[in-house]
Amino acid sequence: MFTTLKALTVVATSFSICSVLGAATTSDGGVIITLPPRSTDVGIKKVPDAAHPFIAPGPNDQRGPCPALNTLANHGYLPRDGIASFEQILAATREGFNMDRDLAGFLAGFSMMARGNAFLNKLSIGSISPQIPVVPGAIDGPAPPGGIAKHDRFEGDVSMTRQDFNIGDDVHFQISLFDEFLSAIAEFGDDDPVHGPKSIVNMKVMQEFKFQRFQEAQGQDNAVSFHASRIASSYNEAAFILTFFANGTTGTLSKQALTSIFQNQTFAPNWFRRSSPGTFDFIVDTAMEVLNAHPIQPGANVNGVYELDPPSTACNAAYSDFVLNNLPHTLNNVTGTFKTNVNTLLNIVATPFGCPKLLPAGPVGQ
Ligand code: HEM
Ligand SMILES: *[C@@H]1O[C@H](CO)[C@@H](O)[C@H](O)[C@H]1NC(C)=O
Ligand SMILES: *[C@@H]1O[C@H](CO)[C@@H](O)[C@H](O)[C@H]1NC(C)=O
Ligand SMILES: *[C@@H]1O[C@H](CO)[C@@H](O)[C@H](O)[C@H]1NC(C)=O
Repeated sequence: MFTTLKALTVVATSFSICSVLGAATTSDGGVIITLPPRSTDVGIKKVPDAAHPFIAPGPNDQRGPCPALNTLANHGYLPRDGIASFEQILAATREGFNMDRDLAGFLAGFSMMARGNAFLNKLSIGSISPQIPVVPGAIDGPAPPGGIAKHDRFEGDVSMTRQDFNIGDDVHFQISLFDEFLSAIAEFGDDDPVHGPKSIVNMKVMQEFKFQRFQEAQGQDNAVSFHASRIASSYNEAAFILTFFANGTTGTLSKQALTSIFQNQTFAPNWFRRSSPGTFDFIVDTAMEVLNAHPIQPGANVNGVYELDPPSTACNAAYSDFVLNNLPHTLNNVTGTFKTNVNTLLNIVATPFGCPKLLPAGPVGQ
């Protein structure tokens, strides 16, 4: 659609037409990224609706390490090819899961800069794609953006259903790990009249399963990396399961609904999204409750021994690790639409942390 409009109109005209559609092309060929207003469509809702049937991905469709984005693409809430803009990710995560704008903005904004093309406003929810070229000036090295599946910066160790990069497949669903999750439900889960005894994922299940995964990774992966940003993502993702995958009508998450999303990458039949937006603060509180049962300090294995990072003096250790270490410093020196978008996204990423804005200082090409 965007290409067609561009071909049919002069640049000045396409700017106004595309603005209406949320994709503004500028004279340097970039696409302006904008933070949409908070939606008012944030109540409980049955998902999917009739317009979003499950269709299994084709061989050229990108899928990756995020069960939620994969599911949204399988239902056409995200483009089915797995290539999405910042605005499309915010709209889809709200429509499908009622994720609050600023939480989705942080996730999508960081990912766009770390693993996407922030000049063209394109991010792959899987791996490298012929649709996403190298960024202008090859400021992050000669390779095209890796997509969110590329290891480091965002995809990381101690995932729940993907292996550590050093151990095995870090991108796709691993049934052996999921079986450990199911075992934790069988041991610590709540009973439910409909779904059966010990069938409901609760806080205790998540506390014990997450700690077990850390102990396994720490024991198996000689170089396990669990610095501040990765601890934050990893425990936030545990909180996402409890808060976003739960059935909105009951607030409970059955092992059947969990399996549907993780293994089949489709919503369970008769599933409802949560009844209020899941905000950043709410997620962080839930994540802290998971972590506090078995506290873990940021660190990494060096020859198999877990070494703690020096104590952080930052306003927020995770925010500072994300921006200072995981975004290439060369983002500071871009121009034109690329610069406009990087500025927009850096502000969006800083917002939920409530910290003074930092500038990227990380290595290039990682
Ligand atoms: C808004 C944009 C989003 C982006 C860019 C994103 C990106 C990612 C990435 C890169 C991972 C892999 C991290 C790892 O190594 O484990 C991941 C995992 C995960 N994401 Fe997302 N995600 C987004 C939204 C969501 C939403 C809306 C949910 C829940 C409704 C969600 C739930 C999860 C879960 C549960 C995992 C952990 C999977 C595992 O550990 O096995 N994500 N996501
Ligand atoms: C997953 O899909 C398979 C094949 O369609 C189906 O038999 C199974 O019941 C599904 N599992 C869940 C939990 O939805
Ligand atoms: C969600 O809850 C409603 C109301 O209790 C129920 O009818 C529906 O079957 C549940 N869906 C799932 C996937 O558990
Ligand atoms: C490049 O960015 C740095 C900040 O990381 C800034 O100090 C420097 O002036 C910039 N150089 C140019 C040529 O814009």
